[in-house]
Amino acid sequence: MGSLGQLGMGLAKLLRGKYGTQNVIMSDIVKPSKDIAHSGPYVFADILDFKCLQEIVVTYRIDWLVHFSALLSAIGEQNVPLAIRVNIDPSFPRVNIDPSFPRVNIDPSFPRVNIEGLHNVMELSKQYNLRVFVPSTIGAFGPDSPRNPTPNLTIQRPRTIYGVSKVHAELLGEYYHHRFGLDFRCLRFPGVISADTMPGGGTTDYAVQVFHDAMEGRMLECYLRPTTRLPMMYIDDCLRSLWEMLVAPSDKLKRRTYNVTAMSFSPEEIVAAVRRHHPDLHVTYKPDSRQNIADTWPEVFDDSEARWDWGWQHHYDLEAMCEAMFASLKQQQQQAQGEAGPGR
Ligand SMILES: NC(=O)c1ccc[n+]([C@@H]2O[C@H](COP(=O)([O-])OP(=O)(O)OC[C@H]3O[C@@H](n4cnc5c(N)ncnc54)[C@H](O)[C@@H]3O)[C@@H](O)[C@H]2O)c1
Repeated sequence: MGSLGQLGMGLAKLLRGKYGTQNVIMSDIVKPSKDIAHSGPYVFADILDFKCLQEIVVTYRIDWLVHFSALLSAIGEQNVPLAIRVNIDPSFPRVNIDPSFPRVNIDPSFPRVNIEGLHNVMELSKQYNLRVFVPSTIGAFGPDSPRNPTPNLTIQRPRTIYGVSKVHAELLGEYYHHRFGLDFRCLRFPGVISADTMPGGGTTDYAVQVFHDAMEGRMLECYLRPTTRLPMMYIDDCLRSLWEMLVAPSDKLKRRTYNVTAMSFSPEEIVAAVRRHHPDLHVTYKPDSRQNIADTWPEVFDDSEARWDWGWQHHYDLEAMCEAMFASLKQQQQQAQGEAGPGR
């Protein structure tokens, strides 16, 4: 669910490669592009509509559910009632979101999707005995947590609505696991870097934007201080960790919620790495409200428990990620030029 976002599209491709196109159903509340609509089964599914979810699970004989709907950290702080209720703003400018999609009518006194949507997901999974994956984040920690490194099990007192909703998801999932035997699985992801979707709404977005600005010869205006260190991960590692966690035998999982990461860097460090490919990249630093969020988040994420329990290993460090990002963006550029045709 929520499969037209940054993580969902890549995960669908990965799972369809492993299990067959017809065995992975993509769903979201927005109109898919032609490519997505032709790539395999796609259905409308609103996480607020429990009956609609039941119908899909029954009709398609679903046995695994991945719940990806969320309003990201920086957007959440700008619109708390929306973050609580809808957990995503459909008018939010992601490349693949249909701009004609009507805004949901918000009733601030009635918390829904982030909370109610998650409750639907849990109840549905319990009712139909589904294996359920819910992603969490480094944002589930706060200023009282140890920041370097941040262990798997430690104090979690986040100061953002995004973080609060994620701690709620972790705890509720673990409760359902212990109380009802639900096969709940959760990974706390760091900032995820990918070339396929434009950044928007996350505190770690600058680390995606820097590649686009370098490619297009624009100046990067970075909203974090140059030394602000945050954990990060390339999309291929992120999706592979998700799949490995999904297929890990239950007896290997000492926990139901694990930290995973690949690297930690600051804006000045990624800028230096990007300049090895594009020496002309110019950067200015103008910290804004996202700096306050980043200042409470982990700097270095300790994912040793995931490595120990189910063999997690990242493949991309900063250098390898830069290579992969530029290769991917160049390919997209060439494809776009090819589609535009000669002389245009
Ligand atoms: N991208 C990251 O860097 C990152 C890092 C850590 C955790 N996460 C978590 O991973 C998950 C996916 O992140 P993402 O970056 O792909 O998010 P995204 O914002 O790109 O996508 C979310 C999707 O949810 C859909 N959605 C909105 N309302 C819905 C509803 N009522 N019913 C069904 N679908 C609805 C949206 O249309 C959208 O396609 C989120 O839970 C996020 O918190 C992401």
